Order: sequence, then C-alpha cells, then structure tokens
Amino acid sequence: MASNEKIWIIGGSSGIGEAMAKAYAARGALVVISGRNQDALDAALTRIGPGHHAVVADAIDRNSLVEAASQHGPFDRIVSTAAIYNPGALSKADPDEAAKVFEVNLTGTFNVAQIGAQHIRYGGQLVLFGSAAAIFGLPNGQVYSATKAGIVNLAQSLRSELWPQVDVRLVTPGFVRTPLTDKNDFAMPGLMEPAEAADRILKGLDGKGFETAFPRRLIWPLKLLGVLPHWLAFAITARMRG
Ligand SMILES: NC(=O)c1ccc[n+]([C@@H]2O[C@H](COP(=O)([O-])OP(=O)(O)OC[C@H]3O[C@@H](n4cnc5c(N)ncnc54)[C@H](OP(=O)(O)O)[C@@H]3O)[C@@H](O)[C@H]2O)c1
Repeated sequence: MASNEKIWIIGGSSGIGEAMAKAYAARGALVVISGRNQDALDAALTRIGPGHHAVVADAIDRNSLVEAASQHGPFDRIVSTAAIYNPGALSKADPDEAAKVFEVNLTGTFNVAQIGAQHIRYGGQLVLFGSAAAIFGLPNGQVYSATKAGIVNLAQSLRSELWPQVDVRLVTPGFVRTPLTDKNDFAMPGLMEPAEAADRILKGLDGKGFETAFPRRLIWPLKLLGVLPHWLAFAITARMRG
C-alpha cells in the first residue's frame, strides 16, 4: 500500500514515530525522519534500515521545517508525532516547562501542519497526533492533555478546510511503551509496544476514517465520560486524583 511513497515523520527518532517509520519502510516506502537531535536520528536510521533519510528539524523552528521540507519533499504523507510530556499536579507545575509543552505540542503541530500542507502531494495525508488524554480532562493531565485536546480541534478544522487537497487524519493512542510514558509511575491499562501501535495506526491510515483510536477498552470509557452529565462525569474523575 505504501510502496513508492515518500513519508516525512517529525518525531521519527523514537517511540511511535520510529515504529511507524520502520513499518512504512518495510512496506517499501521511502522514509524521512526528523527530530531535534542528530545522534538520536542517526541511531534510529540505523534501526530503520538503509536508503532512508534523517534531517534535523525542530517543530518550533519554522525555518528548519521549511528547509527539511524543501530539501526532501514533496511527500505522500506527513506525520507529526513530535511532543513532550510533563505530567503532575497543577500545584507542582513549573510554568516555564508548562509553556514549553504548549509551544512544542501545540505551536509545533500548527507549524508542521501549515508548512507541511504546502509540501504534500494532492490527496496525500497529514497525520496529527492527539491522545486518549485529550478525550476528557483527567486529574494531573495538566497542560499535556490540554495541548492534545487543542490538536484534536486543529485536526477537525483542518480536515474540512483542506479536503480534498490534503487528507487530514487524527491518531488517538492509548498507552504505548516509549520514552514518553517511561516517566509514568502509575498503572497504564492496555499498555502496548510501539510496533503493535504502529501496526494499528498504519491500518487506520489505510482506511477511510478520520480518527484512528485504540485500544477500545480505554477509548470508549473515556468517550462515555464526555457524554455523561457533568456532575456524574466529575464524580467519577474526582476519584482518580490519587
Ligand atoms: N506513548 C504513548 O503512550 C502516547 C499516548 C498517546 C499519545 N501519544 C503521542 O504520540 C506521539 C509520539 O509519542 P511517543 O510516545 O512516541 O514519544 P517519544 O518516544 O518521546 O518520541 C517523541 C519524538 O518527538 C521528537 N521531538 C520532541 N520534541 C520535538 C521538537 N520540538 N521538534 C521535533 N521533534 C521533536 C523526539 O525527538 P527529539 O527529542 O530528539 O527531538 C522524538 O523523536 C506524541 O505526539 C504523543 O503525545 C503517545
């Protein structure tokens, strides 16, 4: 399905982005991975295999995105997985770190979407990453969840704005074992390996649906919270304060 495609993955040096790069490469696609760290990119490229490219680009540095896209585009798909995560209680949040999370996750995704859309072939995909954490605000979700909820809204509005020039998709993963979730000190229901997550994501992106969300046993209870009366939903989520 992805044979002969050229795919740019921003955030492709680790975790889900790297697993997607491997899976697309195995299908015969040419993969370009980006991130901020050259060594991490080189190491990931070795794991992905020969014939692919790594280019340093920072989602919050628009010039670096334009340079990478001009050098390697046009693309059949652009996947924006770049994000940072800093969970914890509001009372303990460092405002500078919080601002950085907003900047990388939300402004960075906006930058990739705006610049990337100009470097996608007609009908190609722009894939944005939300999270199960975006479905309903949970205690200690903090700015990370808020940025992911913002990305959901961005993806929805871009979907109708850009179709059919660009096929905008949203990915909503549950818990996946990556450096991002390694910092969690709580039980992660439905935790899966990056390769399995990538497999589900690629299948979803091969289909026609706007959103690829998994695993169901985590996603549906969270979606249910959103349709319950607020008093009931907050009675349930207040018990998750820990
Ligand atoms: N893992 C999960 O359970 C989970 C669940 C739901 C949603 N997600 C979402 O899935 C996506 C991938 O997460 P992951 O778990 O695979 O994370 P990860 O392993 O931490 O990988 C994040 C990637 O983003 C890159 N990155 C970070 N900041 C960047 C920036 N400013 N510009 C360019 N690249 C940047 C990182 O490389 P450098 O640091 O070298 O730049 C790395 O390649 C994220 O959007 C995350 O929010 C993950």
